[in-house]
Amino acid sequence: MQLRLCAAGGLQQAVAREVERMSVDCTEVGHGAVRVETDAATAARLTLALRTVSRVIWEVGVGLPNTRHELTRAVAQLGWEKLLPAGRGWAVRASGRSPTLTHSGFAAQVVADGIRERFAAVGRQQPPVDLERPEILVDLHLAAQGAEVGLDLAARSLHPRGSGRRAVAPLREDVAAGLAHLAEIDAGSPIIDPFCGSGTLLAETLAVALGLPARRAARTLALSRLPRFSDLNLEALSPPTPVPGETTAGWGFDADTRVITQARRILTHYGLDEVARIRACAVDRLDPASLPPGPGWIVTNPPWGRRLGGEPSTLWRALGTLARRLPGWRLAVLSGDPSLTRHLGLRADRRFPVRVGGVDARWLLYSIRQVRNPSSASLR
Ligand SMILES: C[S@@+](CC[C@H](N)C(=O)[O-])C[C@H]1O[C@@H](n2cnc3c(N)ncnc32)[C@H](O)[C@@H]1O
Repeated sequence: MQLRLCAAGGLQQAVAREVERMSVDCTEVGHGAVRVETDAATAARLTLALRTVSRVIWEVGVGLPNTRHELTRAVAQLGWEKLLPAGRGWAVRASGRSPTLTHSGFAAQVVADGIRERFAAVGRQQPPVDLERPEILVDLHLAAQGAEVGLDLAARSLHPRGSGRRAVAPLREDVAAGLAHLAEIDAGSPIIDPFCGSGTLLAETLAVALGLPARRAARTLALSRLPRFSDLNLEALSPPTPVPGETTAGWGFDADTRVITQARRILTHYGLDEVARIRACAVDRLDPASLPPGPGWIVTNPPWGRRLGGEPSTLWRALGTLARRLPGWRLAVLSGDPSLTRHLGLRADRRFPVRVGGVDARWLLYSIRQVRNPSSASLR
């Protein structure tokens, strides 16, 4: 079966890295998605475990026409009576657009019509449509070149981790995990986040470094209801939890004492409370001597605007000063504003364009080199 693994913009390489770490080959790494050709057991394993994906789609029809009547006809050729479980409510979710199908609601209707025609043609009772709380989600992806129709193996977005977090400017979990993969952060080094907020970036970075799978409950995923997966023991497919290595530990700091409790709660929810410490501390008061022996990683998402308090340029300058006092360490920082980045006073080794919360941002990687007099480092 062919899978389309959907990723937030710019994170497809991160998805490919995570997939390959699970010893599965990618057949295509395209814009916003990675394709994998595999069997049902591996498809289930990926859906249960991948941290960097937002959706996993089993593509049941590719290269279909993207015009109204032709698409309905092509969808009616597919074996929906074997794909959809009896009695389970279903709906169609459409994304993308074609020159003639520009409205997602209408495009979804075109596919639903094809499925109805199929059940009528083979004389089988069609399962009920449920637009409010579908248990099964048929996925339509439209592009100028054609349409793809599939089944969403989760029937929901995969990024929430059930931590119940409530933060002012949290990163989505799949995005945070993707950033950690792009930086190729592996086990063995300490990881600190001087602007940890609710702790999502720190928790996901630690989880990626330690190779921890997402561990979704199979019963919460649509695949547990799909006939194609009915022979599998889904619970047995969950990978074992590796024991966190002693040398990888996380430290999170934030000036806002209100978010500290939340960050601690989230790290506990991730099962990382043994390897992570969270402390209230403003970035300009962080003493490098109090940090674990490195070299390690500073992985962070500092404020980009005034919404979170303080003058952001001052915070970025303070982050640059802290980094320069940690020679040999590496810095990975998310920036939505290039005019702030220059206040770091560092030159990036690598830049990844990523789409975060509707903003074209950059994930920037730096190697911190020895400077003779850190306070005199010039801005570049
Ligand atoms: C964009 S949020 C971080 C979001 C976080 N990475 C996450 O994954 O949820 C930026 C954080 O910087 C914190 N902050 C603002 N000024 C600070 C300062 N002077 N020192 C340390 N943290 C500060 C804010 O309280 C906020 O939690």
